[in-house]
Amino acid sequence: MKAIRVREFGPPEVMRIEEVPDLKPGPRQVVVRVKAAGVNPADTYMRAGTYARKPTLPYTPGMDAAGTVEAIGDGVTRVAVGVRVYTSGTVSGAYAEQALCDESQVHMLARNLSFQQGAGVNVPYATAYRALFQRAHAVAAETVLVHGASGGVGIAGVQLARAAGLNVIGTAGSAKGRELVTQQGATHVLDHGTPDYLDKVLSFTGGRGVDVILEMLANVNLGKDLKVLAPGGRVVVIGSRGRVEIDPRDTMQRDAAILGMLLFNVTDRDSNSIHAALAAGFENGTLRPIVGKELPLAEAPQAHKAVMAPGAYGKIVLVP
Ligand SMILES: NC(=O)c1ccc[n+]([C@@H]2O[C@H](COP(=O)([O-])OP(=O)(O)OC[C@H]3O[C@@H](n4cnc5c(N)ncnc54)[C@H](OP(=O)(O)O)[C@@H]3O)[C@@H](O)[C@H]2O)c1
Repeated sequence: MKAIRVREFGPPEVMRIEEVPDLKPGPRQVVVRVKAAGVNPADTYMRAGTYARKPTLPYTPGMDAAGTVEAIGDGVTRVAVGVRVYTSGTVSGAYAEQALCDESQVHMLARNLSFQQGAGVNVPYATAYRALFQRAHAVAAETVLVHGASGGVGIAGVQLARAAGLNVIGTAGSAKGRELVTQQGATHVLDHGTPDYLDKVLSFTGGRGVDVILEMLANVNLGKDLKVLAPGGRVVVIGSRGRVEIDPRDTMQRDAAILGMLLFNVTDRDSNSIHAALAAGFENGTLRPIVGKELPLAEAPQAHKAVMAPGAYGKIVLVP
């Protein structure tokens, strides 16, 4: 089978397509025939060798895939050969024609989702769900600012929040991105590329501020976020690419909380809860992954450049 291999950490071009042996499942493992693989920013940090988690070289990138079960090992009870699944992590990497997974890493793909949409489920939706409900404990009638709403996690956050009865304000850097965020149910959409745009958050909320912020770029925004939080407000730091200065008094005045999160930290119990909630949302149509760009597997380097470029529009997926 064909797989993208990384033999040294470095720029996107270190990813090359190679012919590698077919995969065989061990006990309680599953081989998935990959129909689409999701590209996440964390894949680029790992490839560059700058992430806290450094894979052992050589390796195949990617955590998120969707496809059909091709083979199962001894003791697998959760899925049968032929069923459609998406993955929440893999043993062997997702940018390939086959992916080896532990049984716990495969989940049934809702009938109304394409494989391309399935490749955009795990990291984006699980992250947004964990941020909103397991970290911020958001409840209906609260207002959430999805700060960076046009990308994978942001779109998932907007859909999840609307489905749970929250009011949503989103931000995006391009007109196309803002239109997409509006279509997903945000009441107000701001351009995070313009000066003083956050002032409008206060006017949209009658001066009160927002209850929850899902923050995709904390190194740029955290200090300003704290000034538009309502009393008892919570900021969840989902993404950050550097350092930032804050005024701690902004948290004191509001009894506010800054909550970090990393999807890798979820317990099995929380993970089961997340994927069960997502399954319900895909079944009833309130959650609909948006695929903005599809590229052939061999174009993984272009996909890594695109996911880090401005002008996000849903998910980027690779198709073997
Ligand atoms: N903590 C975790 O476990 C976890 C899990 C998943 C992702 N993440 C991180 O979360 C971030 C978002 O991930 P993703 O998959 O949604 O990436 P993505 O699809 O590439 O989207 C990036 C988002 O950030 C927005 N953005 C750009 N400049 C911004 C600014 N000044 N203020 C606010 N937002 C801005 C982009 O908007 P425009 O392109 O429209 O400007 C876009 O909406 C990444 O940094 C990723 O590494 C963390």
